[in-house]
Amino acid sequence: MIPTSTSADKHHSTPDFDAWLASLRAHFEPRLDSTLDRLLADTPTDLQEAIRYAALDGGKRLRPALVFLGSLHGRPWPDLDDPAHEKLWPAAIAVELIHVYSLVHDDMPCMDDDDLRRGRPTLHRAFDEATAVLAGDAMQSLAFSALAEARTDEAVRLDWIRRLASASGPSGMVGGQAIDLSLAGNRKASEIATLADLHDRKTGALIRAALAMGGRWSGLSPRQTAQVDLFGRLLGRAFQIQDDILDVTGSAEALGKTPGKDLAADKCSYVTVAGLEGARKELDDTVRRAHAALWELGTLGTDSHALSSCLDFVIHRQH
Ligand code: IPE
Ligand code: IPE
Ligand code: MG
Ligand code: MG
Ligand code: MG
Repeated sequence: MIPTSTSADKHHSTPDFDAWLASLRAHFEPRLDSTLDRLLADTPTDLQEAIRYAALDGGKRLRPALVFLGSLHGRPWPDLDDPAHEKLWPAAIAVELIHVYSLVHDDMPCMDDDDLRRGRPTLHRAFDEATAVLAGDAMQSLAFSALAEARTDEAVRLDWIRRLASASGPSGMVGGQAIDLSLAGNRKASEIATLADLHDRKTGALIRAALAMGGRWSGLSPRQTAQVDLFGRLLGRAFQIQDDILDVTGSAEALGKTPGKDLAADKCSYVTVAGLEGARKELDDTVRRAHAALWELGTLGTDSHALSSCLDFVIHRQH
């Protein structure tokens, strides 16, 4: 039978996922730190400081986690100490650098104009706007440098570069951000279908790419790949619907960012367009479809326990 847990399961916790994600962060932070040390060796000091301020500490590191979860290597949880997985870290670092660059630019006055990110002043507040633009630009380049030097075979490396370029570019994240801005102030004209497309691009594309990069590395079959991709699309959508919900239900302390921004900026979010109850219904529907995708994946002989826990984490998270 297809499991049917939904966002309506309140007081839900995800202790096994929480513990694994904490362990991923413990592995990830020093690797990101040393990658930045190496790649920023010949960088002006102020720019270096700005990049390190934005990139190090504070994030959930969900996208790096998805690179490992997408590799589906037959055990319930990816073993982060296994030396065989060492070659995946450049992909995890690259995806996170693109994500951080997108946050830095998203927070700027010309976009969402936010003062708080990951519990600290946003980069343009802590430094200045020009530095925030340049640090974002630099992190985009750094992501591809990290991939280019990955010690994996050439075909995988090229696939990673192509995927990340496409997911982060004009038809992916950047395109989604453009639609997000163009729809601001035009809530009445917006429909759920438009919102789904917007969410799939601005948030889902990178989440899907993270899973796919892990899957490509571990050599999933075409059917497994397609099923993980379907799950990734739904996970990305669920992630952004929950982000929209938290924008109205969360506190600055819990979120580490200022709540109430979507309504104040007249943004098209699931909550501003469909209301809080409408957004929760969409989330429940998306989660049901994501569980169905995982169930199908299970029929291909795949252990999808960790992906299922990740979905629970995404929809029950409070930040
Ligand atoms: C926030 O992403 C931006 C969105 C795409 C909604 P996260 O909630 O993953 O932010 P961090 O990385 O944990 O700070
Ligand atoms: C951000 O969406 C998406 C990207 C950064 C690509 P939001 O604007 O809703 O994210 P938050 O709420 O500022 O984190
Ligand atoms: Mg935004
Ligand atoms: Mg924003
Ligand atoms: Mg938001």
